[in-house]
Amino acid sequence: MRKKIKMDIDACKPRMVMAETIYSDYGAVIVWENTVLDKLTINRLKIFGIEKIWVYEYDESDEEPEESKPRSETEVFSDSYENDTEQFKTILYDLSAGKTVSIEKTVQIADSIYAKKDQRRKIIECITQMRKVDEYTYYHSINVSMLAMLIGKWLRLRPEDNHLLVQAGLLHDIGKSRIPAAIINKPGKLSDEELDEMKKHSEYGYYIVQYMEGIDRRVQEAILYHHEREDGSGYPIGLKGEQIPLFAKVLAIADTFDAMTADRAYKMKNTPFEVFQLMQNDCFGYLDTIILNTFLSNISHYYIGSKVRLNDGRIAEIVYINSQQYGKPVIKIGDEYIDLMAAKGLKIEELI
Ligand SMILES: [Fe+2]
Ligand SMILES: [Fe+2]
Repeated sequence: MRKKIKMDIDACKPRMVMAETIYSDYGAVIVWENTVLDKLTINRLKIFGIEKIWVYEYDESDEEPEESKPRSETEVFSDSYENDTEQFKTILYDLSAGKTVSIEKTVQIADSIYAKKDQRRKIIECITQMRKVDEYTYYHSINVSMLAMLIGKWLRLRPEDNHLLVQAGLLHDIGKSRIPAAIINKPGKLSDEELDEMKKHSEYGYYIVQYMEGIDRRVQEAILYHHEREDGSGYPIGLKGEQIPLFAKVLAIADTFDAMTADRAYKMKNTPFEVFQLMQNDCFGYLDTIILNTFLSNISHYYIGSKVRLNDGRIAEIVYINSQQYGKPVIKIGDEYIDLMAAKGLKIEELI
């Protein structure tokens, strides 16, 4: 039988194997027995304040020589992204345990996200990749936060304001913690009553952050108004155009983009172009036109040079994106250039 040893969490190394299941104070499993530890898991245990754990005896010769290798930028980025998500989960655990949201924790995660502000390409790749369905809310919050930050940069907001926007993105759906899980996780369409309940999440979120000490008023308002729409069709109040605060307008765009991208990712059709198209055409009048154009023109630019598969099976390269139709770029196949705006029946099926 393998021998168990008790170790300080700081002395634990990736590849060690858990010899016990660790539960949070609320009875949720943090790590199962027999899990092979990695940096993220060790970090998660630390976040939960676990100091010592039982692991199976560890043979030093098992140690991964890779540990000494420098890690690629992508690895560092995705570790940090996963870590932000884990940290954000602890905010939700606190809430479900009846505690208030900690401004320190919020600022800490916002700092970590803000530190990635110049890694735009990585952020965009990260958001449009496949994600774990069951963890949607967590990743969605981090993604909206990162997207709002990109928009903030493209709008040339002051760094202090952009940092607040990151916080607003993180907390925008925090009110969903008050919505019954049966509604949140319902696979099919919501009934009218359920939808009405769901729509209360922006108000619930506002109540949650109302008495949070040290939070900026604009962050609170952005949470309350992130579902308001330019034409007054949104909720909770039905504010119109200029009545909607800037932060809420930015969140509305970041939120819509991430929700549409996720929706498509689940269907295994991961084309941002489809989302650009939908946002440009179907959201006209709902989302602030200037901010939406700033967003689409900047984000679409990152896909120039990407390879795509068309619905006729051919592989093409994106060479030019027309601001009239962000979803229908000019593509190149061999020596041939095709403008998808003019090519009837031809469309992008998949990003490869
Ligand atoms: Fe929302
Ligand atoms: Fe949202």
